[in-house]
Amino acid sequence: MNTGSIYGTYEQLLPGVLEHFLGELEKLNEQTKQLTGEGIYEHLHTRVKSDSSMREKCDRRGLPQTARSALRDIMDAIGVRVITRFIDDIMEIVEYIRGIQGVEVVTEKDYIRNAKPNGYRSYHMILSVEVPWRDIDGEEPGRCFIEVQLRTLAMDSWASLEHQLKYKKDIRNQKLIVSELKRCADELAGCDLSMQTIRNLIRSE
Ligand code: GTP
Ligand code: MG
Repeated sequence: MNTGSIYGTYEQLLPGVLEHFLGELEKLNEQTKQLTGEGIYEHLHTRVKSDSSMREKCDRRGLPQTARSALRDIMDAIGVRVITRFIDDIMEIVEYIRGIQGVEVVTEKDYIRNAKPNGYRSYHMILSVEVPWRDIDGEEPGRCFIEVQLRTLAMDSWASLEHQLKYKKDIRNQKLIVSELKRCADELAGCDLSMQTIRNLIRSE
């Protein structure tokens, strides 16, 4: 029987970490709106991983179901997905995130330059952010991880459809489906490039 949250007393603190980080992203969005009339991102998705998903992930990784596993060994308890209209907006947001006070970049994976073999594209960052409370290592101010995924609308629509299809087991034509999904991802990537070129043309007029 599991009583209480896997996050222990940190459960109540995680939403505040997310809120603070969102506030920083909203600042950039407002600045860009002032300058260009458009926000830098289209929308954001955020979540604190639910207790049951986190316990399931610990099991999958062979980790004990503890707050330490959830907050240290696993780094996506807090997740932020940033959806942009254009490819170039992604790196602008990445640069901004790198410069936020109290933020250290732990890892970055550029699945845009290096798409996964299945066609998945996104820019991933694991951040360690400073928090105004004593963390699980006893440090105060403490640190907490945030996973950030940045993608265009086209990359996001592909990822969400592919994610849905992954759960359908026993599909016939598995090979064909995989290669068709890859083809769609590559076509969408071509559209992203064209849309970027169109915006550049309009802005240079
Ligand atoms: P976990 O998957 O979280 O255990 O970490 P990892 O080290 O494999 O990291 P990776 O950066 O590969 O993936 C992290 C997250 O990116 C996943 O949880 C998904 O949300 C997303 N992601 C990665 N690959 C794919 C993919 O092929 N399709 C879709 N739809 N999402 C993906
Ligand atoms: Mg993975």
